[in-house]
Amino acid sequence: MSRNYYMAGNWKMHMTRNDAAQLAQDLVNQLRDGTHKYLVAPSFTLLETVSAVIEGSNIRLGAQNCASEEQGAHTGEVSVLQLKDLGVQTIILGHSERRHVYKEDDALINKKVKLALKHGFEVILCIGELLEEREAGKVEEVCERQTVKGLEGVDVSLLNNVVIAYEPVWAIGTGKTATPQDAEAVHAFVRKVIARLYGDDIASKIIIQYGGSVKADNAAQLMAMENIDGALVGGASLKTDSFIPIAKFQA
Ligand code: PGA
Repeated sequence: MSRNYYMAGNWKMHMTRNDAAQLAQDLVNQLRDGTHKYLVAPSFTLLETVSAVIEGSNIRLGAQNCASEEQGAHTGEVSVLQLKDLGVQTIILGHSERRHVYKEDDALINKKVKLALKHGFEVILCIGELLEEREAGKVEEVCERQTVKGLEGVDVSLLNNVVIAYEPVWAIGTGKTATPQDAEAVHAFVRKVIARLYGDDIASKIIIQYGGSVKADNAAQLMAMENIDGALVGGASLKTDSFIPIAKFQA
């Protein structure tokens, strides 16, 4: 496969500075000889600490969200300018917890995607269906809508900074993983949607990560699928011992 695997840890709302610095240092040491692309996405309050630890390493710094406006009177929000100032390179947008718990819709997510790309960030756009949507046979419809609307108005020249993460909502934090075959079917479908929007060349290059209960014992089978190019890992990214075997899986 010509695409490089991209293994990312989404730390969600966990840890304080000391544990974050320790985990980041362990990852720097153990991933030094890793051959894939790596990212950690800590909470906003940990970004400066983690940034200092991973500086100069092969691990990218990610944020888990950003405001949809550049700056101004937006109490409680964090701006792309502030993230850039801390060394953040990548922003995760449209995570299912943002969509379903904090009610972010496709239009808001699209606004954030465009703003982040405009400021030179890499964006990981998360998509994925709810269990009831899967049961109603709407997987493709939902994933297509979230992809198309998430990228609406994004120029083809910016697509090299876009990563898609397919995360079936029913598999996140539940211990239920999509089978490699089920995940592969959705990844192949999303790649076709990208081909329709941006052409075959871009579609063949775009990284599509899988997320949802990725663990050491299922990572290699998932990554073996033709259209699965990496993982966005939640729970298992919080400990060195569980993340390293995923991050360093052997193809
Ligand atoms: P999980 O989370 O690995 O804990 O299922 C994945 C995610 O939400 O990105």
